[in-house]
Amino acid sequence: MENINIKINGLDVCAPAGSTILDAAHIAGIKIPTLCFLKEINEIGACRMCIVEVKGARNLVAACVHPITEGMEVLTNTPVLIDSRKRTLELLLSNHDKKCLSCVRSGQCELQELCQELGVEDENYFAGVSPEYELDDSAPHMIRDNNKCILCRRCTAVCEKVQSVGVIGPNNRGFTTFIGSPFDMGLGNTSCVACGQCIAACPTGALYEKDFTDDVLAAIADKSK
Ligand code: SF4
Ligand code: SF4
Ligand code: FES
Repeated sequence: MENINIKINGLDVCAPAGSTILDAAHIAGIKIPTLCFLKEINEIGACRMCIVEVKGARNLVAACVHPITEGMEVLTNTPVLIDSRKRTLELLLSNHDKKCLSCVRSGQCELQELCQELGVEDENYFAGVSPEYELDDSAPHMIRDNNKCILCRRCTAVCEKVQSVGVIGPNNRGFTTFIGSPFDMGLGNTSCVACGQCIAACPTGALYEKDFTDDVLAAIADKSK
């Protein structure tokens, strides 16, 4: 296969033709932050966390979808990029519930990790419409909490492309877009097979398994049975 030579942060990097900037950065061991990207499953360039500077390009480009070309010169960590990523995180937090202390994913949340890395806190930089969603607990195995959803669509891609089920997707448009079942009927009323793969794919605490530990402990402690 033909190889392409580029420079990333001044380092020479050689990657197969057809690679994206993100692929080439991985080969070189250079970390570029991502949120919506799931290799070969969700490559939609939606979140803009992976933006980089390309010499000669008019705009910042999304590394996860931008193909490399011979001689390309890429910068991944300039002050402009760091500032842009911070604004993106603030935008995501502006309609996120930010109840991280009690979140099941606290400490393992990709959004929280990026906010920590870039020093973004509880900011409402862009005060947009912030709908409050009821939890969808209709499925026997899991809960969907759209108040923590960042609309990355990793769950919908996994459900459709990997599991071939396709029972979740975006509903509505603009600020009121949310991920859910068709006609918002509740996951338990669809043909969801309870595989849990969407939970594994989610970068935040928007999807989590139901926890029956308290019921089990209560049953063990109940001497009448
Ligand atoms: S549990 Fe499996 S089938 Fe159900 S929504 Fe998630 S990925 Fe799709
Ligand atoms: S539920 Fe999770 S995986 Fe699905 S779109 Fe929202 S944040 Fe992304
Ligand atoms: S990771 Fe590239 S746009 Fe989301």
